[in-house]
Amino acid sequence: MILVTGGCGFIGSNFVLDWLAQSSESVVNVDALTYAANPATLASVAADSRYAFERADITDRAAIDAIIAKYQPRAIVHFAAESHVDRSIHGPMDFVRTNMLGTATLLESARAHWKSMSPEAATSFRFVHVSTDEVFGSLGPTDPKFHELSQYQPNSPYSASKAGSDHLARAYFHTYGMPVMVTNCSNNYGPRQFPEKLIPLMIVNAIAGKALPIYGDGQQIRDWLYVSDHCSAIRRVLESGRAGEMYLIGGDAERANLDVVHTICAALAKFRPGADYTKQITYVTDRPGHDRRYAIDFSKIERELGWRPSESFTTGLEKTVRWYLDNDAWVKDVQSGDYKTWMERNYGARA
Ligand code: NAD
Ligand code: DAU
Repeated sequence: MILVTGGCGFIGSNFVLDWLAQSSESVVNVDALTYAANPATLASVAADSRYAFERADITDRAAIDAIIAKYQPRAIVHFAAESHVDRSIHGPMDFVRTNMLGTATLLESARAHWKSMSPEAATSFRFVHVSTDEVFGSLGPTDPKFHELSQYQPNSPYSASKAGSDHLARAYFHTYGMPVMVTNCSNNYGPRQFPEKLIPLMIVNAIAGKALPIYGDGQQIRDWLYVSDHCSAIRRVLESGRAGEMYLIGGDAERANLDVVHTICAALAKFRPGADYTKQITYVTDRPGHDRRYAIDFSKIERELGWRPSESFTTGLEKTVRWYLDNDAWVKDVQSGDYKTWMERNYGARA
């Protein structure tokens, strides 16, 4: 079986659902169930004998050792992280703890497991560290896209903590020979994303008749990838990627934030006519240190592993808007708890 960390979050849950739909191999999901997790997301597979769930924090070495000893995974796909840039600005230490200390702990536990394997099993063992394009910093309007040799220049506590975890993952290959691979992906969107991130936040606020808060001038560019395309790229890396390599993954869909919000408003007007959602757009104080542009050159994974995105931004966004319209109960569920406090904390102080 394979072991996935962070499988109750956005990308991890989509990965687990896709995995169980496409493979006969079992998966164990290790998640601490932070605010970003929604176990109900995986309710449809809870009774599947190929699925197991273990609640544990990746910084807890004894707990992770026990889980790995119990399931003896042939591979680990590491999603668990604190993932929201704005939260990292308000409270960086949670990011250092989970993203750096947690990844270090998981790598140590995986190394002990890998060392205990037979030579054949150890050769085929894989550790996929799921990371972000944000570690490369910010591009100017005409700069070439990020590629595998781009310099690390993280600008936020989130991206700095992910950069630290990437370096640790790389070191475990170079120092110990453990078969680690790192993937660096651009912005994901799709079903089951927590509505603190741009696309789901704008959809749920638009439906609720609330403000659509654009940071700064709204001309920051992101390279959007539909989440199931990210999941298929990770499966390709797990199956056929070369140990010790990094692979950049992107959507070939650079869009300015303001354009993204207008596209969401247009999709909503199509599915739920009667309102001009663009009237809800509001400009608010910019994010400190806001990166201007991300873009990914994914020619390496395309050339070596035959992967490219299958969803266009237009079709992916329409599917996403449809999903949020059809899953009101899921949205209400994740908006309980800490959500209101966070919204007040992040947006209350913005002019
Ligand atoms: P998310 O915030 O939606 O989910 C993170 C999950 O990790 C949650 O289920 C949470 O409970 C779990 N978790 C957090 N801390 C933990 C801990 N200490 N121990 C165990 N579990 C813990 O994140 P996401 O958007 O699904 O991102 C998943 C991974 O992909 C992250 O590593 C992120 O850096 C990376 N990534 C995200 C994007 C994106 O656009 N969302 C793009 C590229 C890379
Ligand atoms: O690039 C990959 C990264 O993408 C991932 O590693 C991160 O985990 C993920 O959160 C995402 O980071 P961003 O900061 O790019 O995503 P976010 O959805 O927070 O913001 C996208 C853009 O929209 C960014 O330029 C900030 C802007 N924004 C965001 C919010 C929440 C707004 O203008 N208003 C908002 O209310």
